[in-house]
Amino acid sequence: CYAGGTLALSVFTAVLGSLQFGYNIGVINAPQKIIEADYNATWVHRYGEPISSRTLTTLWSLSVAIFSVGGMMSSFTVGVVSEWLGRRKAMLINNMFAFIGGGLMGMAKLCRSFEMMILGRFVIGAYCGLASGLVPMYVGEIAPTSLRGALGTLHQLAIVTGILIAQILGLESLLGSEDLWPVLVGVTVLPTVLQMGLLPFCPESPRFLYIIRCQEHHAKSGLRRLTGRQEVGDMLAEMKEEKRRMDMERKVSIPELFRSTMYRQPIAIAILLQLSQQLSGINAIFYYSTSIFQKAGVQSPVYATIGAGVVNCAFTVVSLFLVERMGRRTLHMLGLSGMCGCAVVMTVALSLLDSVPWMSYISMLAIFGFVAFFEVGPGPIPWFFVAELFSQGPRPAAMAVAGFANWTANFIIGFGFQYVAELCGPYVFLIFAALLLFFLVFTFFRVPETRGKTFDQISSGFGHASPDIMDMELDKPSTELDYLGAEGSLN
Ligand code: GLC
Repeated sequence: CYAGGTLALSVFTAVLGSLQFGYNIGVINAPQKIIEADYNATWVHRYGEPISSRTLTTLWSLSVAIFSVGGMMSSFTVGVVSEWLGRRKAMLINNMFAFIGGGLMGMAKLCRSFEMMILGRFVIGAYCGLASGLVPMYVGEIAPTSLRGALGTLHQLAIVTGILIAQILGLESLLGSEDLWPVLVGVTVLPTVLQMGLLPFCPESPRFLYIIRCQEHHAKSGLRRLTGRQEVGDMLAEMKEEKRRMDMERKVSIPELFRSTMYRQPIAIAILLQLSQQLSGINAIFYYSTSIFQKAGVQSPVYATIGAGVVNCAFTVVSLFLVERMGRRTLHMLGLSGMCGCAVVMTVALSLLDSVPWMSYISMLAIFGFVAFFEVGPGPIPWFFVAELFSQGPRPAAMAVAGFANWTANFIIGFGFQYVAELCGPYVFLIFAALLLFFLVFTFFRVPETRGKTFDQISSGFGHASPDIMDMELDKPSTELDYLGAEGSLN
């Protein structure tokens, strides 16, 4: 029907941004050696001697990790940008970064400049940082309550699809070759063009229009388009309630989030969930899997990497179907504990590799399991959960802080993993196992369930409890009742 059509179109258009995010995570994994060879050729051309292996490692690590620096910086501006331009226009203008970043990377070989490649990675990282906040915010705001988790998971599904496309196109027989790698890194502008063409047909978030901009008329027509119903009074009434509450508060800035007792707990949860996603070690796999598989004695590491990408996609789909049934909290805990188990198995397998050759299969399976459990919960949930934890007023500031936490941790793993792996050998994943255990305990004690609740119910669950109740929650598992108080619906 027409209604579902507008909602589907809007979500699809928004997650084209997520697709690029994933593409640029995955794209530098397979063609590493080929691009490094070009860096060397440039060096020889300029200085008449081959590049030292130390300089090459530094240049490569920089090319990989500067992406997250771009993401860190831009994700911090998500709040300001999304309030100033609105969600839709912000996504539209963000595309400028994709053009510049894709262009710089695509032209780097032609111009014999690794500086252009590195700068391009930085700029496309900035694009992804904004997209990683704007997309879940927009999707969360336009989704009906009963589908918010499932539609929120589509952000992650698009990310993992992007990673997989990049892994496949990165095969040497496709675009990961000496001549074609500039196309591989430049092709990221295609979804950009598509998104720019489609965004004008998507409505701006009615919540933003009504609660922030006070444009009741426009909000109503957006709601009508998204729901296909003429009568949208009930939804408007819900927003009115949220607005009434918001008008009583001062404008929420980032420092305010940490100062106010009302926001301190949800912002701590938001940050820790993001950290649980990144410090699980997932990107050690997605940035370096080819060399991890190689070290584990796997026969064709590039195909094993693609295998990990396929598992990654498949289990995101599983999560898509489970998230509205089992809830966020349960799935997140299931994912974290499964990852922890796989990390331990992987360590055992890697440390026995010299004496028991078939351990290479076990370690490969453990990596697949690690990725599968990641996508059950820790992959998709933190992204949309932040938008759920906060009402309209504090949401942009909270998304900025959470995004910044995510990207900072992403940077630490991207840059530091190789060094730590060298130090710890087969035991490197034990560090992740310990972190995963910590996040599991945290989730069990601190994270509430948000499934099936309106934004207002969720945030008033935090707001209404007195600060001392919030503080003593540590010795008691949080349940829906704890946070909802008397007025919540338990579905
Ligand atoms: C999540 C993470 C991202 C990671 C991806 C893997 O989207 O934010 O960093 O690479 O999952 O599927």
